[in-house]
Amino acid sequence: MRYAIVGCGSRHEMFVRALTGPFADRHQLVALCDSNPVRLNMSRRNAGGGVGAYPAQDFARMLGETTPDVVIVATPDHLHATYVIAALDAGCDVICEKPLTVDAASLRAITLAQARSRGTVKVTFNYRYAPARSQIRDLLADGAIGQVVAVNFRWQLDRIHGADYFRRWHRQMENSGGLQVHKCTHHFDLLNWWLDSAPQSVAGSGQRAFYTPQTAERYGLAQHGKRCTGCAVKLDCPFALDLGADARLDAMYRAAEGADGYHRDLCIFDPEITIEDTLQAHIRYASGAVANYTLSAYAPQEGLQVTFIGTEGELHHQHTELHGIFGGTRSAHEHEHMSTVLHRSGHAPRNIPIPETQGDHGGADPVMLGYLLAPDSMPDLPHMAAPDTRAGCLSVATGLALVQSISTGQTVAISDILQPDWFAMG
Ligand SMILES: NC(=O)c1ccc[n+]([C@@H]2O[C@H](COP(=O)([O-])OP(=O)(O)OC[C@H]3O[C@@H](n4cnc5c(N)ncnc54)[C@H](O)[C@@H]3O)[C@@H](O)[C@H]2O)c1
Repeated sequence: MRYAIVGCGSRHEMFVRALTGPFADRHQLVALCDSNPVRLNMSRRNAGGGVGAYPAQDFARMLGETTPDVVIVATPDHLHATYVIAALDAGCDVICEKPLTVDAASLRAITLAQARSRGTVKVTFNYRYAPARSQIRDLLADGAIGQVVAVNFRWQLDRIHGADYFRRWHRQMENSGGLQVHKCTHHFDLLNWWLDSAPQSVAGSGQRAFYTPQTAERYGLAQHGKRCTGCAVKLDCPFALDLGADARLDAMYRAAEGADGYHRDLCIFDPEITIEDTLQAHIRYASGAVANYTLSAYAPQEGLQVTFIGTEGELHHQHTELHGIFGGTRSAHEHEHMSTVLHRSGHAPRNIPIPETQGDHGGADPVMLGYLLAPDSMPDLPHMAAPDTRAGCLSVATGLALVQSISTGQTVAISDILQPDWFAMG
């Protein structure tokens, strides 16, 4: 199969490595496309010879000249829909980075394009593929705790990972849909998948509590500039990002910023930020289950805790990743641990051994790449097949419903955002 990639930033590197490495015997990377000529050329150099490089305005020409079978979309989120629809209309299959898109109108436009195209859409919900997470899906599907009635789900981003969403394009609602869409799309997809159900309504709240001018004042950083480069308080700021100190960031972003003004190190305390850093949602599912969900983006650690309450017992899973002690310093991994405990009513709690894994995102990325790029080489498990347009739409719709609920204070029905019959043909 012939592949093209649009959006040659950080995430696209995983696909270039896969297509020019372990999957090169069955696929060919034929073209790259980006609005930034420096990143585009850098990507072409890294991809090796024979790969076409096209500026963003020549995307259609790229499709015509290089005739890809599959287009991988890895641009900023608000640009996904344009490329997904153009690729579908050219008859290509699409692999779209999460989130599928960031607003309700483009959800509809994508489903219409899907219905009129022979192409398919796969969304890169890599979090599903970490063995610890798919094990949860298996336990619940096997009825380990009976019917799932309620879920408590907490996700923590530490002050290194979390802060990064406040430094660049994600920080504006119109670019990312807020963390409700950009980040929670993973978590809402996990809930849909774990529960094997669809969300019906969402009520929630949100605030920006930490990445604020007030926090800068509290830390004695009130004289901060618009970005870390050239900032008067850089040496005192525990969050300062030094693009020049990291060879990859330097080449990919600092050296490219003259071409488009994309600054990778904007100040995380900027009053112009429009996204929230603390989110809570109460989600009702078609199955009858109800989930309470919390995200914080300035936590003392990376991790998640989820408890499923079922008619026959409870399932607890937790993963404590790295500890971001403060700002840019992380302690060693000694506190990292993961556990899954099954507690059936009338039985002692039982630790469920978690399969060993390797690779990014808890071992998820290599498994996801297998199901995306060589599904015939993977175990034939229908629930592991790459997520489709419907899955992409459902998790985005949950995030959009949360955005709406935060601004109106009302419970929002998912049917106000998308309709089940949109997927009849998809
Ligand atoms: N699945 C995951 O775990 C995961 C992890 C990281 C990022 N992502 C997703 O990958 C996507 C890219 O994220 P990133 O971190 O690589 O961002 P990035 O900013 O590093 O890269 C985005 C690239 O898109 C290019 N671009 C901007 N406007 C464009 C246009 N009009 N046409 C073509 N190219 C354009 C930029 O120049 C840049 O090279 C996002 O949707 C993000 O949500 C997913």
